Amino acid sequence: MTKQKERYSNAFTATFSGIADLFRKQKNVVSLSDGDTLIGKTVLITGASSGLGLEAAVQLARKGAHVYMACRSGIPEKGEYVRKLSGSRLVDMLPVDVSDIDSIRRLVDTLRSSSIKLDILIENAAVVPAKSRKTKQGLEEMFMVNYLSKFLHIRWLLDADIFNTAKGNVPRIIFVSSESHRNPKGFDWSAFGEYHEYAMGKTVELYGYYKLLMTTFANELSRRINPTGHLKYSVFALCPGPVNSNIAREAPAIFKPLLKLVFGIFFRSPAKAVQPVIYFATSHEVDACPIDYLFLMSRKEMDSKATDIVNGEKIWTHSEALLQKQGITFEKQFPKPFSQK
Ligand SMILES: NC(=O)c1ccc[n+]([C@@H]2O[C@H](COP(=O)([O-])OP(=O)(O)OC[C@H]3O[C@@H](n4cnc5c(N)ncnc54)[C@H](OP(=O)(O)O)[C@@H]3O)[C@@H](O)[C@H]2O)c1
Repeated sequence: MTKQKERYSNAFTATFSGIADLFRKQKNVVSLSDGDTLIGKTVLITGASSGLGLEAAVQLARKGAHVYMACRSGIPEKGEYVRKLSGSRLVDMLPVDVSDIDSIRRLVDTLRSSSIKLDILIENAAVVPAKSRKTKQGLEEMFMVNYLSKFLHIRWLLDADIFNTAKGNVPRIIFVSSESHRNPKGFDWSAFGEYHEYAMGKTVELYGYYKLLMTTFANELSRRINPTGHLKYSVFALCPGPVNSNIAREAPAIFKPLLKLVFGIFFRSPAKAVQPVIYFATSHEVDACPIDYLFLMSRKEMDSKATDIVNGEKIWTHSEALLQKQGITFEKQFPKPFSQK
């Protein structure tokens, strides 16, 4: 077992690794600028009913963006909360359960029929389940919520021309990932997307694996939607570090008092942890950037498994094939870039 493998393979090592990371000296640090506003920009955040997503909604609304909170719960009260805290009325809620393919379709249809154009998409929703659960379409819930929903949502948004690409505008697609994406040794392509049973002991390991899938997709997406070297979209991924959120809500009841204590003392508040999301949504320093990654506010290389072009090609084709089994095909094709052929 490598040192890295030990870091995020279970809930305890993951928690303490996260805390240790906070105390390490960060290199290549970036900072927010008060002058970067989002007046006239439209943002959609998935999983904006809690934790990091809720805080992102407040801070981006304060920056002047029209914020769409795509949530499965908290409608309408979390929207009212964001309006109140931000002082902005440009805050709307849209219902979505990202574990359900039909619900994602309805969200995209609503955006299309309302002629909403997105400048910034924040793929934030995630779940850490106590055990495996089957979705309505028979997929494994954490795989669907933490990875496949992002692939499907973005491909449908691209098909429906929901991103604002008018007048050379470069939309930003931001993935909330995790340093745990470095943990898995590799990919299991032969069992990609197959439903399998697991219990809490395996959840944290799989969480890291699904973050790896998502981060690999982020890299391939950037290559495919910017195929000629002319920047059309920016794709960003980040790890916010340990956040005092509701992410451990399904932890066994016996550990909850301890977790509450550790989260309260050592984990960062959503208001602080959201900084890399706000940076990628607002900063002009990344205007010309096709792909970038932050850990906390520190620019870092993603794991080489995630940036690998062969893995990128595989995640794309395997995800398409899996969705094809669900009867889903896409109108717009994004062939692999010439450099990858
Ligand atoms: N907390 C950490 O220490 C940490 C560390 C690294 C990365 N992250 C990442 O940060 C992001 C935000 O997590 P958080 O810490 O803020 O956790 P959180 O408070 O649990 O928020 C998760 C959000 O995802 C939503 N969600 C879950 N399943 C959904 C579904 N099927 N459909 C629609 N929305 C769904 C939740 O909605 P409901 O409220 O309706 O359940 C909630 O709004 C995640 O991507 C997570 O992996 C967190």
